[in-house]
Amino acid sequence: MILVTGAAGKTGRAVVRALVAGGTAVRAFVRRAEQQVLLLGEGAQEVVLGDFQRAADLHRACAGATALYHICPNMQPDEVAIGQRIIAAAQANGVARFVYHSVLHPQTVEMAHHWNKLRVEELLFKSGLDFTILQPAAYMQNVLTGWQTIVEQGLYRVPYAVTTRLGMVDLLDVATVAAQVLTEPGHSGAIYELAGAEVLSQVEVAAILAECLGRPVQAAAIDPADWERNARANGLNDYAVTTLQRMFAYYERYSFWGNPRVLTGLLGRAPTTFAQSIAKHKRNLQLATD
Ligand SMILES: NC(=O)c1ccc[n+]([C@@H]2O[C@H](COP(=O)([O-])OP(=O)(O)OC[C@H]3O[C@@H](n4cnc5c(N)ncnc54)[C@H](OP(=O)(O)O)[C@@H]3O)[C@@H](O)[C@H]2O)c1
Repeated sequence: MILVTGAAGKTGRAVVRALVAGGTAVRAFVRRAEQQVLLLGEGAQEVVLGDFQRAADLHRACAGATALYHICPNMQPDEVAIGQRIIAAAQANGVARFVYHSVLHPQTVEMAHHWNKLRVEELLFKSGLDFTILQPAAYMQNVLTGWQTIVEQGLYRVPYAVTTRLGMVDLLDVATVAAQVLTEPGHSGAIYELAGAEVLSQVEVAAILAECLGRPVQAAAIDPADWERNARANGLNDYAVTTLQRMFAYYERYSFWGNPRVLTGLLGRAPTTFAQSIAKHKRNLQLATD
């Protein structure tokens, strides 16, 4: 039985699906009762309700699990304390394998959510657990949050300069690798950077979207004040707003990308391109409406 934490988020659901597709029994750790149905629908065999802030909930989730995939919620100021708690629960309950969903370039002190993940990685080195760490780049699927505006207005809006270059990775490739390292031998102690093969400016991203949709799409930078107003109106707290603003500034100043060789080697094929990822999303939407 493999435990997946943070299972109801976009990463968690993708990892659960990939494990279930390979015939692996999954226990999903979720926070809200209504997420139980969602995860059972994804094929999880068991769902445990609980909160990362409560050690007892994590012990309950770990009991009897052979391995776990830990996904901390995005923009979580307590990521290190949560990491400590889940590592302690894994140790106490004899969970044999611990795979941690980190991030590409956790060494980046300017981005608190990266730096905190580096601290959790360090805790794993000292834990005595049989660990593997995945470090994914920004997901291609992040672009889909603006899908309606892209399709209806031909506008691809980003909170940084349109010249910003990103080496995005397809979340489905990441989930495939997650299932692989959880279920096959030979990945103990590994730290894998998972980056796609293209490094695209936001103008190039818009051009691919245009090609795929068969309509003009223009990249446009969102005014920072508008972005903040909107983020706060959507309930983002101070930590999330500040951390995201620093991430946008970092992306804009330095770009954010990695080398695709590790991902290529693990997948045994070239990583999914952005055009392929978008074409797949479009096909899935068409299938859903047919
Ligand atoms: N997005 C990217 O491009 C990218 C790239 C690399 C790495 N990552 C990393 O991937 C991780 C996952 O991101 P995500 O967007 O998939 O996840 P997410 O949606 O932010 O969070 C996953 C789940 O955690 C739950 N949760 C929140 N607080 C909780 C608590 N106190 N106790 C129990 N559950 C709680 C959430 O439940 P609710 O639904 O109730 O809120 C949500 O369903 C993050 O650590 C992020 O840094 C992301």
